[in-house]
Amino acid sequence: MEILHISAECYPVAKVGGLGDVVGALPKYQHQLGNFAKVVVPAYRNKYYHTHEFDVVHQAGMWLGHDWYHFNVLKERSNELGFDLYLVDIPGLLDTPGVYGYPNDTERFLAFQIAVLDWINEWQHQPDVIHCHDHHTGLIPFLLSYGYKYERLKKIPTALTIHNAQYQGQFGWDKLYLIPSFDLWKSGLLDWGGAINPLASAIKCAWRVTTVSPGYLEELFSNANGLESLISHEKAKMVGILNGIDTLVWDPATDHMLTLNYDLDTIKEGKQENKQQLCERFGLDVSLPLISFIGRLVGDKGADLLPEIIGRSLHELPGEVNFLVLGSGDPHIEWSLQQTRSLVSYGFNVHIGYDESLSHQIYAGSDYLLMPSRVEPCGLNQMYALRYGTIPMVRSTGGLKDTVIDFGDKDGVGIRFNQASVWDVCYSVKRALELYNDAAHLEEVRLRGMNIDHSWDSSAQRYLDMYSSMK
Ligand code: ADP
Ligand code: GLC
Repeated sequence: MEILHISAECYPVAKVGGLGDVVGALPKYQHQLGNFAKVVVPAYRNKYYHTHEFDVVHQAGMWLGHDWYHFNVLKERSNELGFDLYLVDIPGLLDTPGVYGYPNDTERFLAFQIAVLDWINEWQHQPDVIHCHDHHTGLIPFLLSYGYKYERLKKIPTALTIHNAQYQGQFGWDKLYLIPSFDLWKSGLLDWGGAINPLASAIKCAWRVTTVSPGYLEELFSNANGLESLISHEKAKMVGILNGIDTLVWDPATDHMLTLNYDLDTIKEGKQENKQQLCERFGLDVSLPLISFIGRLVGDKGADLLPEIIGRSLHELPGEVNFLVLGSGDPHIEWSLQQTRSLVSYGFNVHIGYDESLSHQIYAGSDYLLMPSRVEPCGLNQMYALRYGTIPMVRSTGGLKDTVIDFGDKDGVGIRFNQASVWDVCYSVKRALELYNDAAHLEEVRLRGMNIDHSWDSSAQRYLDMYSSMK
């Protein structure tokens, strides 16, 4: 089967969060299962673009409203990723160093989608499935079905994966002229709540819709940032498929970003050595349990709670615990974390920014990984933590609920709490310290977590089964 994934992110080409990880891994596993997977992402001007070689495989021009843009499709030459990678290069729109956050993001991703479709329109042989990821590619199912230009692509089955329904990419109807001409009787399929809503449109038009965990799908019926009734209406074509992790990239036994590699038999020394390095770098006491947070500093991740959680825990448990935070995002949260850092004289450090290599070192060198998420469609961090023998402390929501059993229950591998509240998390910190002081139990929980198979094998097959049912 030939599958074309279309996405705004793909690790290691361009990554902001878990979307990148998933799109960099799932196609690789689909390939290994005997399929032909291709991935197309924008040609951002980032490190990957500047350090790899590409062949131009398509050159064309396109209208975006009243503006004409030249674009190229580039194919990565080395085939090192385990699938075919294509980049869509649109100078003037997508040639930015970063992925999102530009004032013309609507235009940038609309142009990306049009360029991809114009390009596929030229293929002699069509893909068996087009798999879109999140709202940045959400207009594709609509345009394939009703865009006049893409008549010959109409029969290609489309799947949408919702990685996060909080982000929908809405824009006003005043920008309708940017969308290539289509059957106007179908305009309602673009609309949600009086705006053009790419995520809602994809939910309406894609042949199948997946969410990144079964637990998140259940939650969406009552909590989908305004799309609840639509999700309920389209229930029959929706399925929750739990993300996997790329066990080739995330393996403490081979990870070249670690100070010392380790496996199930050498976890004790391995973790100790990695923790030592981390604590030295961040001025923390290596003899204390280390609780870390890695992620986007936004309310959905509960990152706004961190300063108070840290301040209160260090006050109530002086000299008993350390905290480390790696992240970037909301400037106010960044600022209050830095304030907290300057107010407490011990037990906490923060690194504001995005640092892939440091993230690996933190997964390896920490004792616990904290995720007080308000919304977590799947969450990959807890699965990376488990594989690195680091115990996840998670709020019971979405994919976190599907992947972490509390250590107080049978087969437990982590610590769970119900509310994204300072009180609930501080109570969990106390539980973490109790467990830390019970060395035998700690080791048992750690090893059980490391033994879980969170690889993509079974989920990649579930996607293939779903594609096969799309006739
Ligand atoms: P989300 O996609 O919602 O941000 P996920 O848990 O699915 O959350 O994935 C987050 C991914 O991004 C993980 O690979 C995590 O290690 C990585 N990540 C998040 N913030 C940072 C950061 N500041 N530096 C390095 N990696 C980060
Ligand atoms: C989104 C979600 C996250 C999920 C990731 C990959 O960014 O916020 O929970 O793990 O996508 O699917």
